[in-house]
Amino acid sequence: NSNQQWGGRFSEGVDAFVARFTASIDFDRRLYQHDIAGSMAHARMLHKAGILTGDELNAIISGLEGILEDIRQGNIDWSVELEDIHMNIEARLTDRIGDAGKKLHTGRSRNDQVATDIRLWLRDEIDHIDQELNRFQQGLLGLAEREADTIMPGFTHLQTAQPVTFGHHLMAWFEMLVRDRERLQDCRKRVNVSPLGAAALAGTTYPIDREFTAQQLGFDRPTRNSLDSVSDRDFAIEFCSVGALIMTHLSRMSEELVLWTSAQFNFIDLPDRFCTGSSIMPQKKNPDVPELVRGKTGRVNGHLISLLTLMKSQPLAYNKDNQEDKEPLFDTVDTLKDSLRAFADMIPHVEAKKDAMADAARRGFSTATDLADYLVRKGMPFRNAHEVVGKSVAYGIEQGKDLSEMTLEELKVFSDTIEADVFDVLTLEGSVSARNHIGGTAPEQVRSAVHFARKTLKD
Ligand code: ARG
Repeated sequence: NSNQQWGGRFSEGVDAFVARFTASIDFDRRLYQHDIAGSMAHARMLHKAGILTGDELNAIISGLEGILEDIRQGNIDWSVELEDIHMNIEARLTDRIGDAGKKLHTGRSRNDQVATDIRLWLRDEIDHIDQELNRFQQGLLGLAEREADTIMPGFTHLQTAQPVTFGHHLMAWFEMLVRDRERLQDCRKRVNVSPLGAAALAGTTYPIDREFTAQQLGFDRPTRNSLDSVSDRDFAIEFCSVGALIMTHLSRMSEELVLWTSAQFNFIDLPDRFCTGSSIMPQKKNPDVPELVRGKTGRVNGHLISLLTLMKSQPLAYNKDNQEDKEPLFDTVDTLKDSLRAFADMIPHVEAKKDAMADAARRGFSTATDLADYLVRKGMPFRNAHEVVGKSVAYGIEQGKDLSEMTLEELKVFSDTIEADVFDVLTLEGSVSARNHIGGTAPEQVRSAVHFARKTLKD
């Protein structure tokens, strides 16, 4: 009888299609390590509570160790009839060690077991993701430091606005990641609690020690309500929302990388090994990696919505619906890890085309605000200065000349308070180095932002 876990109440085996339809082993088997860790902690607790003898505990621990090894070696046939990772491992344990295996599930349900497994698994994955974020940040700091003096146009509305340093732009990316890591750590606190002992929904009649299992598994504490413990998946939703924000940031960065590598911008070069060619157009070098990261943002956003929709309207406590939490969560983790890895590997090798960046910054009258600020310093009200500079820009467009390319005589036509010292503020270098305050684009500020960031970055 294939329903050895619950066959007692049933008069026929489960329909083959239903077995496949309800099974989760195809995807939840990736929880095997954490399932085994949870079972070991549970068994130790049962022994401590006098429910398992020392011999039974030893048999269970060494049986589970053997199964772990088998799985690592690929020596295991997962059974769809056994539905999920939990029952596959338990059945295998009993095959290996006999009756002691049948005692493992005392005082436990798959409902608290699966909630425990996902939390343990997700906690590890959060730590991996955090490491990748850190590696990406380190790469950004190196590049920002190298490019602290490199000048490019800054944009609003994707129209040339004011000159900025490339290092400053990269440090803007860095700040997004700082917040992402804070959110991830905050989410981790709510992941790291132990549902084990909630059993099916109401707790259990055995003298269990939930503090003990929580501590064995490195959880901060046991959860406080058994019904909530087995039905809550908001920790997973929260993680996916943190993930969706990380991907959103990566997709904004991707978009900029794609634009910057185009012939029209020509601001940067990406190493060939991060690009691909075209099967028909021999000249092409496509920024596939950032494009794909941008594209993958959509699926992570989708997973967040899937999980929100999955939980919406579910009555307490556990419902089979919750089995559907895994694929979106797993794919979110996989996508995040791959995307962050791509960025962490690629970013240190971005090559800035400084001349093209500076040329672009000189086009588009990016120092117009500097000229207005100059007039204000000479005593003109800002609104009047705005008008004067607007007229000189219109003249420049007509003549095909940047402000810095006009003669003093030409400029004086618009205001006779303009003197020869105006050319100090009309240069790109003058423009960026004048913005020398906390959070400003001056090279000096970029260097101190990098310095400060290095001190705060824990690895
Ligand atoms: N495979 C199930 C899941 O992923 C485990 C819990 C099943 N519990 C139950 N009572 N059917 O959620």
